[in-house]
Amino acid sequence: MRSARLPDTGNNNVLPKLLVVLHGPNLNLLGERPVEHYGSLTLVELNSMITEEAQRLGWDTQCFQTNHEGVYIDWIHQFRHAGAMIVNPGAWTHYSYAIHDALELVTCPVAEVHLSDIGRREEWRRHSVISEVVDVVVSGKGPQGYLEALRCVVAMAEEGACKT
Ligand code: DQA
Repeated sequence: MRSARLPDTGNNNVLPKLLVVLHGPNLNLLGERPVEHYGSLTLVELNSMITEEAQRLGWDTQCFQTNHEGVYIDWIHQFRHAGAMIVNPGAWTHYSYAIHDALELVTCPVAEVHLSDIGRREEWRRHSVISEVVDVVVSGKGPQGYLEALRCVVAMAEEGACKT
């Protein structure tokens, strides 16, 4: 996990107190995916939970989901100076060096979240190529994991860990 921030260069899109949540491929079908790994909540319900908890802490939230890696990377770029970010890149977690490189450019606290415990599943899921460029990793705690990650990145941002 990273411990230092990149210096901010040419930042004209600063969005303090905005939490951006980026869901990756197949997460649009939460509720239909294997319940033993992902639970029964739909993405709409999950996003509501996240938004309500952020609101309780005085933060705005924008949640996005895509099945297209380039779109995901564009959103990371677009929101790289937000207040805080939560990413669940789904299966891209395990092999996307492009998402790794995009996350390196994010100046606010970032959490990587997985609903399932990726360390206890198939061999190919056990490694994350993005963990070294995020601040927090929460895996295997279901929807509550998003709330734990949220509280963590918001606290970090409010403590000034964010260089935006
Ligand atoms: C996931 C775990 C990934 O291995 C998987 O490909 C997903 C979801 C999770 O939230 O547990 O799509 O990121």
